Amino acid sequence: MAIQVKEGKETLFTIQTKHTTYQMKTDAYGVLQHLWYGATIKGDMSYLLDYPDVGFSGNIYEAGNQRTYSLNTLPQEYACEGVGDYRISAVAVTHADGSNALDLRYQSYTIKKGKYAIQGLPAVYAAEKEAETLEIVLKDTASSVQVTLRYGVLPELDVLTRCVSISNLGDTTVQLTKAASLCLDVPYGKWEWMHFYGRHAMERIPERMPLLHGIQESSSTRGTSSHHQNPSVLLCSPDCTETSGSCIGAVFLYSGSFQTKIEYDQMRQTRLIMGLHPDLFRWELKPQETFDTPEVLFSYSENGMETLSHRFHKAIREHVCRGKYQLAERPILINNWEATYFDFNEEKILHIAQEAARLGVDMLVLDDGWFGKREDDNSGLGDWFVNEKKLKGGLDSLVSKIKALGMKFGIWFEPEMVSEDSDLYRCHPNWAIEIPGRKPMRGRYQLLLDMTNPDVQEYLYERISDILSSTDISYVKWDMNRSISDWYTALLPAERLGEMPHRYVLGIYALLERLTSAFPNVLFEGCSGGGGRFDAGMLYYCPQIWCSDDTDAYERTIIQYGTSFFYPTSTVGSHVSVVPNHQTGRITPMKSRAVTAMAGSFGYELDLNLLSEAEKEAVQQQIQQFKQYGSLIHNGKYYRLSNPMESNYAVWEFVSEDQKEVLVQGMIFRTEANMVRYCVPLRGLDKNCIYRLKDGTSYSGSALMKGGILLPKSWGDYYPVSLYFVGE
Ligand code: DGJ
Repeated sequence: MAIQVKEGKETLFTIQTKHTTYQMKTDAYGVLQHLWYGATIKGDMSYLLDYPDVGFSGNIYEAGNQRTYSLNTLPQEYACEGVGDYRISAVAVTHADGSNALDLRYQSYTIKKGKYAIQGLPAVYAAEKEAETLEIVLKDTASSVQVTLRYGVLPELDVLTRCVSISNLGDTTVQLTKAASLCLDVPYGKWEWMHFYGRHAMERIPERMPLLHGIQESSSTRGTSSHHQNPSVLLCSPDCTETSGSCIGAVFLYSGSFQTKIEYDQMRQTRLIMGLHPDLFRWELKPQETFDTPEVLFSYSENGMETLSHRFHKAIREHVCRGKYQLAERPILINNWEATYFDFNEEKILHIAQEAARLGVDMLVLDDGWFGKREDDNSGLGDWFVNEKKLKGGLDSLVSKIKALGMKFGIWFEPEMVSEDSDLYRCHPNWAIEIPGRKPMRGRYQLLLDMTNPDVQEYLYERISDILSSTDISYVKWDMNRSISDWYTALLPAERLGEMPHRYVLGIYALLERLTSAFPNVLFEGCSGGGGRFDAGMLYYCPQIWCSDDTDAYERTIIQYGTSFFYPTSTVGSHVSVVPNHQTGRITPMKSRAVTAMAGSFGYELDLNLLSEAEKEAVQQQIQQFKQYGSLIHNGKYYRLSNPMESNYAVWEFVSEDQKEVLVQGMIFRTEANMVRYCVPLRGLDKNCIYRLKDGTSYSGSALMKGGILLPKSWGDYYPVSLYFVGE
């Protein structure tokens, strides 16, 4: 049993995974104290708790004159507001009388086989024998608010999950104003934190900072998880590297506004909170109602960040992503966006497809512009009917011709949006999110549909399924090109409007669940202006996400480096595009663009007809290479061999599970005259194995790991690196 409970006056809960221990206990007052999350330990860690008498840290009434017992200094499992813990809190309510205190005390626990699921929300799943669930019930001392803390345990994977259910068992309505999913007190040790920030077309740039006394935060209030901050975070010991030191990682399975807060307090204790962003969250809990929070997936490693990443990659690929394509080889696709933008017709698309088919591409994806009146981004969104002016014979005619080339066909939607210049808006202006009496903010000229409205959901389901059933479609790119504002829906009374942001996300999830179930053979790829909704919530429905609108191979090495801390390579949509690059004007060699795009779910985003014969030949070879290496890239372990923001090269490595296949790829950024070659130690090999390169040169695993491999002598900038070793 991974979950062990020692009952007594104080009940001790211990969760053991293969290499970690999580521990908490109820104390004499029924407060659930957090004791430990870290390397495997035996025994009761409560001996580490200190009970200092700290000024201005009040004491619960039952503690009488015991000035050393304070909720403000003790590590809590789920910190509340209003009863004397002045650090950041996980949960807050407003009772019917306007007061907002919540004082949660232990009631009971249950252990279940398997991993819990959450109705309407993405969650880690596992076979019954792979997981256990612990539920701990806490109740407020003075009201009928009950909180159930859920812990999912996947012992072999060394990962845990947490989510919370908050119930109103009383007979008056309670307003829930904050409901985090994870509250983790780390009372010992010195920590730094790492978060992933960015902007459109430059997402998930890692930033590591010492913790300052006080509060640090990474969050989104955009209604989506955002390009600007990712719902993932790391706490690292100051000496933590890729391969050594302690770190805790957490990722939120959610696609809307979120908040990650870390407080380093007066006692040098650290508290990490992760969950729904409270500024965009209110929930009315009527008598007997329950609210379920989304889930956080987290892990601890005492061997550095690489181990942590491997755990998240496995957990997300095998226990979050779902469907036919979860583990399957992904089609190599060509997308027409950067090739044509809106300016295409059937002929142009077929011309692109013909050359792509000849060179070995598996699938053509028709991007924005195939529907409604859509000559540019000013109009048409919402009118999901084929534009027969552009596609004269209709979609089926195009698809049949593409299929005749031996290719699959995929198509783009941006379901959540509506253009003011669209039939949909003219017919249902009240389906758009607008506050009566105000002009709504427009983003890329467009408005949002109210995804909380069942009629909107029904319309989208009908339109999308109608298109998907009209012909043989194998893939959908689900885009979303603006941040959300002007939260208003006539469907909720004023006092419940604060529920809308979360209900919006639930609406998307419901629609995605319906569509992915109805079309199980279709590969759904998430997208939000590239990686603006690259999160583990979306990955539950879409096993890959367009990583960034930035297709510049150099910048992609940084974006993909940051993305790799939590998200597996198979989830990263990545394409070769033309030079000069459309986002940066940078010129990089074809081969470097290919090795960068191969560290993901591979494809092209250009008109292959415009390439030289030599480049076309290179494309053919790249396709063959991805066919050969794809399984290693998606199923192997991924190693970050350099930090591209700090070195003159970006090099990463894939190692197969049996350690017999190794692929080292990347690029050297700048070449200098009389340049000394870089030597990079490899990782994760079998030290006793002999590894051979294609040219016959061989090295022992120990040599490659201790001595390293010399990167090729570079010529020009962004020089590609690609070394494939086979172990003997
Ligand atoms: C943003 C996406 O990220 C692009 O790849 C493309 O699909 C455009 N939207 C189309 O409008």
